Amino acid sequence: MSGMPQACAGGMPARRGLQGDAHVIELTELRKEFAGVTALDGITLRVEEGSIHGIVGRSGAGKSTLIRCLTGLERASSGQALIAGTDITQLSSARLRAARRNIGMVFQHANLLDSLTALGNVEHPLRVAGVPRSRRRSRALELLELVGLADRAQNHPAQLSGGQQQRVGIARALACEPKILLCDEPTSALDSSTTSQILQLISSLRDRLGITVLIITHEMAVVREICDSVTLLAAGRVQQSGSLGEILSAPGTPLAKDLVPLPHVPAAQEGTSVEVALAGTSVSALFDAARAAGTPIVSVEAGTLEVIDGVQTGRLRITPERPEHRATLVRALASAGYHVEDAA
Ligand SMILES: Nc1ncnc2c1ncn2[C@@H]1O[C@H](COP(=O)(O)OP(=O)(O)OP(=O)(O)O)[C@@H](O)[C@H]1O
Ligand SMILES: [Mg+2]
Repeated sequence: MSGMPQACAGGMPARRGLQGDAHVIELTELRKEFAGVTALDGITLRVEEGSIHGIVGRSGAGKSTLIRCLTGLERASSGQALIAGTDITQLSSARLRAARRNIGMVFQHANLLDSLTALGNVEHPLRVAGVPRSRRRSRALELLELVGLADRAQNHPAQLSGGQQQRVGIARALACEPKILLCDEPTSALDSSTTSQILQLISSLRDRLGITVLIITHEMAVVREICDSVTLLAAGRVQQSGSLGEILSAPGTPLAKDLVPLPHVPAAQEGTSVEVALAGTSVSALFDAARAAGTPIVSVEAGTLEVIDGVQTGRLRITPERPEHRATLVRALASAGYHVEDAA
């Protein structure tokens, strides 16, 4: 087995300059009903090969159900779920087990086997797959090296930090050379600097191995840090789906707004301010657009700005010089291509 199973394909137009349009995950009208509860209400989404795609939603949105349907742990009620071209909703149990090898899973807690060393834990899925001892040992060492833990191969989980355990969990998930790495809240139990390190690791593994990563999270910081594209899920439906840039430049839903939250500052005068999204344009360009329309902005009541993947991104709540200019300002900014809406 080689550590570099696939060429880096992929097709996110925006974030990392990947090219191509192959979809490794294609869901069409996927539904899942439990007695009286609709957990997935017709999910249609495409994930491009080699991309990092975030699934974001609040508690009860259907994230775990979606993962369980993707891995065949749960049978969808209807719809299609193509994983690497195979509709897993139609497979017999035996073929489903084979198809599952295309998917490596990483969970919130690594759930390593305490009685095994780090090396033993990474070897475990290879042993189950019937890989001969010498090959699985060299493969497991190679994987531990890949996640930066070659020197901890003989340590047991109790001797490793949470972040290190998660690295072992990632190495284990990659053991059988999956096409897709499915991460369910992989950093929810980690502090912010360890979170950052794990996200960087996932991102570099994607770059080196060309795998596709699906990352389920409720943490907007995770999406901002590594996702190329994102699906926002609410009540079992897709609210918005697209590249990170598309979502940030038109944050039309509460979940999208949460990606770049505005601080709570009371409005100076009720009903006079508007919210504008910035994605790839500067604040001064926004002000120029307002001035050109004869409606100079006098105050920025609240704002969040940050550089996401090299692009200035954010939201501003602004007020025109004269309240009666508000409608003109909204029209001018909208026609200049800004996403503008009434301030909440
Ligand atoms: N086995 C089940 N039987 C009945 N209802 C279920 C079952 N599994 C999930 N549900 C329901 O489906 C909906 C989606 O649940 P799901 O666990 O997928 O949400 P989630 O987005 O993962 O939430 P969380 O962030 O809290 O983990 C919820 O209303 C839940 O109660
Ligand atoms: Mg869940």
